[in-house]
Amino acid sequence: MRSIGSTWFGRPTLADTGLCEADLWINEMRGVVVAGCPVLLVRREDGVVAFRDRCPHQGYPLSEGELTDGVITCRVHQHRFDAASGQGINPFGSCLVRLPIVVENGRIAVDPAPNKAMP
Ligand code: FES
Repeated sequence: MRSIGSTWFGRPTLADTGLCEADLWINEMRGVVVAGCPVLLVRREDGVVAFRDRCPHQGYPLSEGELTDGVITCRVHQHRFDAASGQGINPFGSCLVRLPIVVENGRIAVDPAPNKAMP
């Protein structure tokens, strides 16, 4: 795995997730650690999106929850989030931290800490 300091496609903040798009089924989500940061990858029909793998409620890993019909449900208190945007569905006011992502030649790279503020 490349570190955050490497240059991925000329973008120094992107780091290799170690996964290819084909490693994920459509409607599958998976937690990975990239440059020491927890990242949630969600494969949708229209591509892959990435979020910080932490629930905004109390910080538990969302990758331990469920992805059903485009909705991520945290296993701890069942807060629900739209898997495309990260917008809270219940409760509505919360939102996941969406991470910059690039898929090139099938390989997935993300900026795991775009603002360097980790919970
Ligand atoms: S920690 Fe996720 S809903 Fe409470």
